[in-house]
Amino acid sequence: MSERKYRVGIIGSGRIANAHAQGYQGVDEVEMVAASDPVQSVLDNFGQQFGIENRYLDAREMLAQEDLDIISVATWHKLHAPMTIAACAQQVKAVLCEKPMATSLGECNEMMTVAQRNNVKVAIAHQRRFNSAWTDARQLIAEGAIGEPKQIVCRGGQGLLNDCSHLFDMMRYVLSDPRAEWVIGNVERKTERYERETPIEDRSAGIIGFEGGCIGMLLQEIAGPNYQGGIIYGSDGIIDLTEQRARLLNNKATDWEDRPSDGSNQHVAQARELVDWIEDRTVHRGQAEHGMAAVEIIMAIYESARMHEVVQMPVRTYCSPLELMIDNGDLPVERPGRYDIRSFLLHGEEM
Ligand SMILES: NC(=O)c1ccc[n+]([C@@H]2O[C@H](COP(=O)([O-])OP(=O)(O)OC[C@H]3O[C@@H](n4cnc5c(N)ncnc54)[C@H](O)[C@@H]3O)[C@@H](O)[C@H]2O)c1
Repeated sequence: MSERKYRVGIIGSGRIANAHAQGYQGVDEVEMVAASDPVQSVLDNFGQQFGIENRYLDAREMLAQEDLDIISVATWHKLHAPMTIAACAQQVKAVLCEKPMATSLGECNEMMTVAQRNNVKVAIAHQRRFNSAWTDARQLIAEGAIGEPKQIVCRGGQGLLNDCSHLFDMMRYVLSDPRAEWVIGNVERKTERYERETPIEDRSAGIIGFEGGCIGMLLQEIAGPNYQGGIIYGSDGIIDLTEQRARLLNNKATDWEDRPSDGSNQHVAQARELVDWIEDRTVHRGQAEHGMAAVEIIMAIYESARMHEVVQMPVRTYCSPLELMIDNGDLPVERPGRYDIRSFLLHGEEM
């Protein structure tokens, strides 16, 4: 590698930015030099905690003033696309953007285009791709430990774009990233529910047909408990996956085998692989194509609900079909009053 360390700037200095910063702290080749956040107290706390002196209330000013190599985009969903695009326009080497990649496929397309034009590597922070138990499940399935994967069942919450984006990404990751071929789903939105200022549905369900024949199923706020993981049923066995472990039962054993996660820091591994990608040693396992594939499945569920049809991929509706249905009055609110399930995170008058 070069003598100079890769200079990191962080956009959005809140909760997940702390995880990004801990990730960068674990990688020798990088140094965090700048951070931004419009809330002075959040910015200062973050800067002090991680020894970052160059602090900006305006992220675009940070991008213009600093000579940065890596940008973390750790703002709420609606700013993922504009901030990633602004970072790519500065021709940095890499952007690590939080999930969901964006709130519509149109935004994802713009991010991909600007990344390509400016030769910037963009990864999306589905960091559980670095959980050793999830990688273990992927390898077991690839080796045929459960035969032909037939079905994956997950239970999520907080709307499809938030936690559930990780679950759709998990389905693809453990199956070695197949294409989704078709999707059918439905949504219920009878309250004015938002999550981090993005409109979300009260409840939803989606069924996904993956290339190779495995069927993914996700229930959102329908049948708890919600958790990160799922049950993968194969022709010759089952993997029960959580963040803590993969449990395997197959036709070679008489009892479940517990295969715990090694507990290593996923954010450090995610940041390290970004450096390896910049230096062309590997492709980041969270590269933007995967983040976009998760958003496409979500948009396909919304589109299936809007069009009352099985959606064949690729999805060609580039706005959010959920937002379209809300705007068109197709999802009449029966219990009015806007609320955000994240409102406890608002930073008071400084906002
Ligand atoms: N990968 C994960 O497991 C995971 C976990 C938590 C959150 N997230 C994602 O991270 C994102 C941020 O969530 P959070 O929980 O950290 O929220 P947060 O509210 O704690 O932090 C977001 C910060 O962005 C700041 N911000 C707003 N506008 C800005 C702007 N124009 N420029 C710079 N900063 C700005 C806010 O003031 C806030 O401090 C969300 O999209 C969420 O989905 C991912």
